[in-house]
Amino acid sequence: MTQQAITLQDIAELHKIELAANPYPWPVSAFTSSFSALYYNFKLTLEQQIVGYVFCKIVADQAELFNICVNPYFQGKGYGKQLLQQLINDLSAKKITELWLEVRASNHIAIGLYESFGFACADIRPNYYTNAQGAEDAHIMCLYLL
Ligand SMILES: CC(C)(COP(=O)(O)OP(=O)(O)OC[C@H]1O[C@@H](n2cnc3c(N)ncnc32)[C@H](O)[C@@H]1OP(=O)(O)O)[C@@H](O)C(=O)NCCC(=O)NCCS
Repeated sequence: MTQQAITLQDIAELHKIELAANPYPWPVSAFTSSFSALYYNFKLTLEQQIVGYVFCKIVADQAELFNICVNPYFQGKGYGKQLLQQLINDLSAKKITELWLEVRASNHIAIGLYESFGFACADIRPNYYTNAQGAEDAHIMCLYLL
């Protein structure tokens, strides 16, 4: 498994994975606008195939996880845990103290993953996301890193 920075050249392939993996996929514009100096983004590859990726923004000593996604072909094999562990290790090395994220209340797999790392739900934003039923809550979760 190789960890590499994401470049603009990766976006077409990342977007294909995103469409296949995520029922509420990022549009291409979300990928292209996530490359300022504040972002810490990386991908994990196996034999030249992208297994998964992370987009994270760092402001002062706080980080926000904007996207974590595993290629459906590789899901359920521990790679989501590996991506998150790698992110936590890298942020800790950068002396980041808190990692925040927002997740749909219905995304039980992601919430299970986050809770297994010790993330706690800090707040709930009612009806924050749209879905087929109308709307659903956002869980705002935080992990203290130090
Ligand atoms: C969330 C996601 C990254 C997890 O990646 P993954 O590689 O499949 O996850 P892992 O194999 O590392 O499993 C990690 C944990 O997730 C949970 N999980 C994974 N697959 C699951 C399933 N089918 N049912 C329930 N929980 C599951 C479990 O808590 C698991 O830990 P465990 O194996 O100790 O029980 C992946 O499902 C994904 O890309 N989803 C689409 C994008 C998305 O929703 N991202 C999060 C947005 S906030």
